[in-house]
Amino acid sequence: MKQFKILSVCLLALPFFSCSDVKTDDGLETKVEELLARMTLQEKIGQMNQLSPGNADEVAALVKEGKVGSILNITDPEQVNKIQDIAVKESRLGIPILMSRDVIHGYKTIFPIPLGQAATFNPQVAEDGARIAAVEASADGIRWTFAPMIDISRDARWGRMAESCGEDPYLSAVMGVAMVRGFQGKSLCDPTSVAACAKHFVGYGAAEAGKDYNSTFIPERVLRNIYLPPFEAVAKAGCATFMTSFNDNDGIPSTGNDFILRTVLRDEWKYDGMVVTDWASATEMITHGFCSNRKDAAQRAVNAGVDMEMVSGSFMEHLEELVSEGKVSEATIDNAVRNILRLKFRLGLFNNPYVQTDQSVKYAEAHLAKAKEAAEQSAILLKNDNETLPFTGKVRTIAVVGPMADAPHDQLGTWCFDGEKEHTQTPLRALREMYGDRVQVIYEPGVAYSRDKRTSGIAAAVAAARRADAVVAFVGEEAILSGEAHSLADLNLRGAQPELITALAATGKPLVTVVMAGRPLTIGRQVEESSSVIYMFHPGTMGGPAIADLLFGKVVPSGKTPVTFPKMTGQIPIYYAHHHTGRAPSGHETLIDDIPLEAGQTSLGCTSFYMDAGFDPLFPFGYGLSYTTFVYNKLTLSATDLKADGTLTASVDVTNIGKRAGTEVVQLYVRDKVGSVTRPVKELKGFRRITLQPGETQTVSFTLPMSELAYWTRRMRKEVEPGEFTLWLGTNSDEGPSADFEITK
Ligand code: BGC
Repeated sequence: MKQFKILSVCLLALPFFSCSDVKTDDGLETKVEELLARMTLQEKIGQMNQLSPGNADEVAALVKEGKVGSILNITDPEQVNKIQDIAVKESRLGIPILMSRDVIHGYKTIFPIPLGQAATFNPQVAEDGARIAAVEASADGIRWTFAPMIDISRDARWGRMAESCGEDPYLSAVMGVAMVRGFQGKSLCDPTSVAACAKHFVGYGAAEAGKDYNSTFIPERVLRNIYLPPFEAVAKAGCATFMTSFNDNDGIPSTGNDFILRTVLRDEWKYDGMVVTDWASATEMITHGFCSNRKDAAQRAVNAGVDMEMVSGSFMEHLEELVSEGKVSEATIDNAVRNILRLKFRLGLFNNPYVQTDQSVKYAEAHLAKAKEAAEQSAILLKNDNETLPFTGKVRTIAVVGPMADAPHDQLGTWCFDGEKEHTQTPLRALREMYGDRVQVIYEPGVAYSRDKRTSGIAAAVAAARRADAVVAFVGEEAILSGEAHSLADLNLRGAQPELITALAATGKPLVTVVMAGRPLTIGRQVEESSSVIYMFHPGTMGGPAIADLLFGKVVPSGKTPVTFPKMTGQIPIYYAHHHTGRAPSGHETLIDDIPLEAGQTSLGCTSFYMDAGFDPLFPFGYGLSYTTFVYNKLTLSATDLKADGTLTASVDVTNIGKRAGTEVVQLYVRDKVGSVTRPVKELKGFRRITLQPGETQTVSFTLPMSELAYWTRRMRKEVEPGEFTLWLGTNSDEGPSADFEITK
């Protein structure tokens, strides 16, 4: 592979700041101020402009004139070096360009989609994935990525749930912080570090009806208690940048919302990073009906607290004029530019803007091994009747069917601009290569792709199933069915996939259904028809070897659902941390087929449930089985009477009562029984992965500072309210022993 050498001669032309200077931020503000003082208004506005490259000569001219701060989507290192050369040598002040790209769940080596990474409940997986993505992306000159996406996602119709860490603020915060650590490395100025971008700020995941870009209506308390916490966590962890979201919340588009961009982000959180708009979200405020024209859009975005405009160019067109008219102050511009320059210094770009990394890091063996481990841990075992899995020696022939068995493009999932399907290892390939000496593999897809409605191939798949000892059906969604702008109103399996599963089940052979998708699908019927079900959110490059080892028991499943799985689309939004309502279900639901004719109006009990779907989801949040069984006993609390500044230790004995070693995710939930406003029935406050040998018991202890129970109360202050609480330690959000404690004044 090509190697790109540093043009050492170019370094001589630059003002030097060493990496170690930048690490401690020593003297950083002085450097920023010195440079700022030398800039014209036009040069300042140029820094606030992010360009999507068009004609190379035009880009070069703009860079030379100091009219560009950042460029998106150049992945040719030679071109990166050429542009940086123009910026540092030919522009008046020699300010390097910030090269950016969406590197969401891998650059070349593709990890499971973020929802899958969240299913591991293992922040190390997320950190490793982001680190590897940064190493591979920086080899092509990318020093800024638009990730992590930490939008709370409680609506599986929304295609972008795939990019998120799911429904829970605590899990999203932990995984988001881990991703930031991975992208940014130990020091931003390391040449393999990539600045992270927390997106989309904020509330985008609450798009009404799960339709992408739709309006949101999130009251301030819900915003503060649910949607903002992951963003606050990554801001505190040093996430270099934030991106405004497309949605308008309660009528105000985020890109023009000074409450979130100034009051919360800058004043309350003291954030000194950089804020970029989403793609053209400044000028989309015109389409929203919030701004009258491009000049108005630029004015509102900058005054609200945006530092850099992604692609729409309205800052370049109008800011100078807006400053001369006194509609935007030069002080506001200066602050924006400070935030941009600070990042460029922190990244060490003034030291060395050139690509210098070895190209051979792409698809490195060690990267592929980590991607496999991530895919293994992301797999969620939803059902395993009669210990169908793992396959034993009795299984000599397997029929491999379904459209996702050999779909190298689709198993990579959404937001995969750079990973090449030629490098994907599919389940079919992996089963043949890794287990071909142990079992005969008969491949008969039955259905060609997930939307394929043709049933003509099903007979052949059934014939293959009849010749086999077990069937593995790989079904789900193509990559294109989730992600940005890919919302769905119906979450059932598409095309002829349901017919395929029904026909396979009718053979009476053990049927293992493996679902690969970008969201939870409503697979109740397929779960009933299958002996075993494994759910993998699109698992990436190494999904095949991961599932092969899971099927044959070399690896034991340990993933947990990072979102609640609905039975029917009509239950959405459905999430575990709901409030109770005044009509909580009493445990007895009369479902539609059991309602007597001409039943009295109130005879069903008047509680909060659906007559056709009941109250419960298909699978609760945090759910996932193992090839072994874990039992929870002896929950103990270090105290039952605490002060608001106290700390509680909660412990539970977890025993592996099965015959295999396995990994369990022990989860801690708390309920605040009475609040100044109504509270969620349960909230995740901690989790830990533990591995137990057969027969082994481990006492798992969590330390929970009572300050973790603070929330935005009726007074709209974040505080701990005295009162009674219940704490659970369990295997998912629905099971596990509990104990009560109290916080007294
Ligand atoms: C998406 C962002 C992404 C940006 C740049 C937008 O359409 O909403 O998440 O980072 O494009 O590609």
